[in-house]
This record gives sequence, structure tokens and C-alpha cells, in this order.
Amino acid sequence: MFGLVPLLFTALASAYPNRGPCTGDCWTHDPAMIQRVSDGTYFRFATGTGVPIHSSPAVKGPWTDLGTALPNGSSITVDGVESTNIWAPDVHYQNDQYYMYYVLSKIGTQNSQIGVATSKTMEPGTWTDHGSIGLPANDNYNRIDPAWISIGGSNYLNFGSFWGDIYQVQMETPLQVGSATPYQISWNATLNHREEGSYEFKYGDYYYLLYSAGIAGSYTKTTPATGAEYHIRVCRSSTGLGDFVDANGTSCKETGGTMLLSSHGQVFGPGGPGIVNDADLGVVMYYHYYPLATKESGAAYDNANYRYAWNELGWENGWPYVKAT
Ligand SMILES: *[C@@H]1O[C@H](CO)[C@@H](O)[C@H](O)[C@H]1NC(C)=O
Ligand SMILES: *[C@@H]1O[C@H](CO)[C@@H](O)[C@H](O)[C@H]1NC(C)=O
Ligand SMILES: *[C@@H]1O[C@H](CO)[C@@H](O)[C@H](O)[C@H]1NC(C)=O
Repeated sequence: MFGLVPLLFTALASAYPNRGPCTGDCWTHDPAMIQRVSDGTYFRFATGTGVPIHSSPAVKGPWTDLGTALPNGSSITVDGVESTNIWAPDVHYQNDQYYMYYVLSKIGTQNSQIGVATSKTMEPGTWTDHGSIGLPANDNYNRIDPAWISIGGSNYLNFGSFWGDIYQVQMETPLQVGSATPYQISWNATLNHREEGSYEFKYGDYYYLLYSAGIAGSYTKTTPATGAEYHIRVCRSSTGLGDFVDANGTSCKETGGTMLLSSHGQVFGPGGPGIVNDADLGVVMYYHYYPLATKESGAAYDNANYRYAWNELGWENGWPYVKAT
């Protein structure tokens, strides 16, 4: 009987393996990561003035601060928002160039827009801003947190946050949405509908939808109830175009969503997930967190305090889990 107690504690304490190592500049917030096709160098983009760019020869570092993608800001105007105050970049490669979707938004409102920039190399000084992608405003969704995916040879953009949670729209070209109508692909019916920062990818027979659930940021000003802070959930679909369900078979449009990663150790409020396929590591999920020690130190909330983390994903019965590295 007594022997069970320490065992149980051990099991709880190691519910998630530790994050993978990082050396060099390990700051990030809402990261987007991609390997450059020409030389395999990893590039990491983040929320921040002008869209900060970091690069590294490997997922674990050493990461170097290269500068910013859009130092002069975006041509998009959002009332009360500096044109260099850019959020949640999403970067992919096609047609011999890199496309970066990005966001200008007045925090806590639906006054938001998604824009796009292109580059041949991703280095600072090579990005051309193309402004808005032409996604119409709508009370049903918020135009933030873009995440591109190619399905059946077509470009799709997932986006959204709170209000209607995660939406998807087919794009006419990688630069413009065109006339297609956006539709909802994931929704939590409770409270403020706290889903955002989605990322979709294909693995085996399924498309997987990751998203950040719960309360984001400002953790030193408002302390969310335990477990209400950011965490990462997963849903899957055989088409990638809707019909996402969780591991229990519950529709992700009806408050479904399987937990993939929540706060553990120093990793408080993990969110903003994405995937890279690393030649040595396999499928890697990267994300940001707010170090628990920083949160508890009493230091003011600061974008500069976020950190980059990653873990390999393992697979069981067609569902991912966070694996020790
Ligand atoms: C930013 O604006 C300055 C001044 O107009 C210009 O010299 C510079 O080339 C611009 N930088 C980029 C990356 O567009
Ligand atoms: C839905 O939102 C509520 C309130 O934020 C939360 O307690 C619950 O865990 C969420 N469910 C899912 C599946 O994300
Ligand atoms: C899935 O089912 C399990 C077991 O009934 C339950 O504990 C869990 O909360 C369910 N998850 C979701 C996301 O509904």
C-alpha cells in the first residue's frame, strides 16, 4: 500500500519529458520555424517589432539573432497599432521563395488583419511586403494567427482566435484569398472560446491540427487558475478540410481536443506550436513558454521573457505524444 504513494508521485512529476536543449539566443514568442531549402539552416521567426529572425544549424542551436524581416513595418493600417508591431508569423516555401504570413492586431479586439511578405533567402533585408491577403473582416472570426497548409495542390490558410476559434479558407494564390468563404474547423463552446495559434500538418493517413488553448500571456499581471493557462491540444482529420475529432472521437467543433502538452517544470503555458521534420530527430514540435521562475520572480510581464522549446513527437494509435529527447 505505502509503496504506491511514491510511485504515484513519480508518475505525476514526470507526466511530460523535459524540453530539448537550446543554446545561443533561446528567446521566442509565437514561433514559426522552417529549414532553408538551399543549405538546411533553420530559421525561426517570432512576434515582435519588425518580426525578429533567428537562425541555427540545428533545432537545438546555437541560435543567432539575425535582425528583423520587416524593419519598416507593414503597409497594413490597423487603427492604434504601430505598423512594426507584428504578430504570429507563419513561413512556408513554394515557387522558389518563402512566404511569410503575419498579423497586425489591436490586442483583445477583432480589429486585426493578416498580411504577407516574400523572400528568396529569408535573410534580413530580403523581404518584400505585399500587404493584406484580402481576407474579409467578419464578426464570426478574428483575423490572427495564420497557418498555411497545402492540401490536394491547393493553398489553405487556417487562422483565428477566441470568438469563433479556428477557421480555414482556401486561397486563390499564396498572396490573395480571393472569393472563397472561410469556415470553422475547431471551436470550444465554453467561456471565451479559448483556442488560437493553430498549426496543421500531415503525418501518415491523417492531418493533425495543433492549437493553443487557454489564457495567453500577461501571467504576472493576472494569474490564471491552475491549468487555465496556455496549453497545446491536438485534433485529427482524414481530409484536413474539417471533420477534426479528438482521441475520444468528439468533434473539435463541439469542444473536443486532446491534451498534448501542458505546464510542467519550468515550462509554464506552452503554446504557439509548430512542426519541423528534422533529418536526425524526426517529427519535432517547437513552441514557446514563459519560464515558471520568471513568472514567480515578480518581474513585470515582458515579451522578452518568453523562451523557445522543442520536443520530438512519438506516435501511438495514430496520435502524437511528447517524447523524451
Ligand atoms: C526601410 O526604409 C529606409 C528608409 O526609407 C530604406 O532605406 C530601407 O531600405 C528600408 N528597409 C527595408 C528592409 O525595406
Ligand atoms: C474548453 O474551454 C474550457 C474553458 O476554458 C476548458 O476548461 C476546457 O478544457 C476546454 N476544452 C477543450 C477540449 O479544449
Ligand atoms: C476523453 O475521455 C477521457 C476518458 O473518459 C476523459 O478523461 C477526457 O477528459 C476526454 N477528453 C476530452 C478532450 O474530452
